[in-house]
Amino acid sequence: MSFYVTTPIYYVNAQPHLGHAYTTIAADVLARHQRQRGEDVFFLTGTDEHGEPVADAARAQGLEPKELADRNAEKFKALTPQLGASNDFFIRTSDKQHMAKVQEVLQRVHDNGYTYKGLYEGWYCPRCADFKVENEILEGDRCPIHLIELTREQEENWFFRLSSFQEALEKLYADRLDFVMPQHHYNEAHSFIRSGLQDVSLTRAHLTWGITVPWDPSQVFYVWFDALLNYYTALSYARDGDDLTDEFWPATYHIIGKDILKFHTVFWPAMLMAAGIAVPRHVFVHGFLLGADGRKMSKSLGNVLDPFEVMNQYGTDALRFYLMRDVAFGGDGAVGMDAVRTRYEAELANEYGNLASRAIAMITRYRDGAVPQVETDGELARDFDGFPSRVAALLDRAEPTQALELIWQRVRRLNRYVEERAPWQLAKDPADAGRLDRTLASLAEGVRAVSVLLHPYMPATTARLLEALGVRNTGFDGAAYAARVGVASVSAIEPLFPKRS
Ligand code: MSP
Repeated sequence: MSFYVTTPIYYVNAQPHLGHAYTTIAADVLARHQRQRGEDVFFLTGTDEHGEPVADAARAQGLEPKELADRNAEKFKALTPQLGASNDFFIRTSDKQHMAKVQEVLQRVHDNGYTYKGLYEGWYCPRCADFKVENEILEGDRCPIHLIELTREQEENWFFRLSSFQEALEKLYADRLDFVMPQHHYNEAHSFIRSGLQDVSLTRAHLTWGITVPWDPSQVFYVWFDALLNYYTALSYARDGDDLTDEFWPATYHIIGKDILKFHTVFWPAMLMAAGIAVPRHVFVHGFLLGADGRKMSKSLGNVLDPFEVMNQYGTDALRFYLMRDVAFGGDGAVGMDAVRTRYEAELANEYGNLASRAIAMITRYRDGAVPQVETDGELARDFDGFPSRVAALLDRAEPTQALELIWQRVRRLNRYVEERAPWQLAKDPADAGRLDRTLASLAEGVRAVSVLLHPYMPATTARLLEALGVRNTGFDGAAYAARVGVASVSAIEPLFPKRS
């Protein structure tokens, strides 16, 4: 089976921030999990470089758009490995191959009769690079997202006959109840469609920073259509000399924030249908990370939690864990440094970190580091029974927060087990040697199994721990708690989550 997951491609008019990191990390957890299961995975992220916002930002800094794009694309590109993201390719919409493919696909849309020339007039937000419809506009003709004043714009454009897809989109939504997830975002997209679709502008006349319209070189494509097509074009050139489209298209999951729902759940499937290309399987829409002021985090509002600061202080894996744990994926949630510290100390250091170091320390102290090769405890086995497949089912539905909660319940179960069995008491009486053996074996096996499941969330930390347990297999088949212990011996390890000042 193939699994293709994407993030939005990020605008290069600004610096990377936690919102971008959030989507990338979530997509990475899904990609890593599917790889564990032996699926053929392709994970794509990248940058969106054309259009008005970038041209404007470049002008304001006295740069050419391409110079600004090159500079900022580097920062986004550097961020992905820093986040531990395992993307298979990083697309830039200024890539020549992307540009040529966009022209090819949209020419087909034109040839298929889904375009016409018309006059467009509307309220336009230069930051969104989008015209706003009347009912979205705030008082004083302001953008609902950026709160800035909108401008009235009129120009001759090529239009996309979105209205021709009214029935086809309604049918798509009727046939595929999981096309948009979670449910409330499906409902939102569905009612937008049912309220009646209007044609949309496909090209821009006054802009040169974009992809030229092949049948009318005086225009460039509206940046959103150029950008959406990245998901499709990347597969054709990501691997030198190899076209991966047949293998990975249609995409399994587009992971996006709710700010760009309409583009992905309405325009995008219609555009694909117009070009005769299959529509993606799922669009998963997550919520906003909110600043301490309860507003969406954004540079322009100045309420940003800096991912680099979190990583410097607590490490990449702590950032990944925090974001997947503290904000239920699919909903909104406030984030802040205090909450990071609390999760780090209370859960990572005191629960998981402590569990790992206690297990290793006791096996070292009482059994010289050799894990007793005896049957594991049936009671613990019962609590672990069937749970990897429940985790997998949740991650198949792109629910990393709920999956992590299930895993964490097992981390807590293991800590309770240590308290209940009190190996330090058993060690005092030679008559309890058998029980001590069983306790230590069960503990080693439990720590191993939860670490395999935590691997997609905290790849570096779990790899270090599994190495100390002498375990090489991080595959999903190793996620089950087995009767036969999977750990032979343990070696000492530095604390996984050291105290921070
Ligand atoms: N370039 C477009 C997307 C084109 S995709 C074909 C764009 N770029 S963006 O840089 O503004 O990134 C938007 C995405 O970044 C959101 O959809 C979301 O995935 C992520 N986030 C940005 N700010 C965010 C929050 N405050 N909270 C959660 N996610 C955020 O839109």
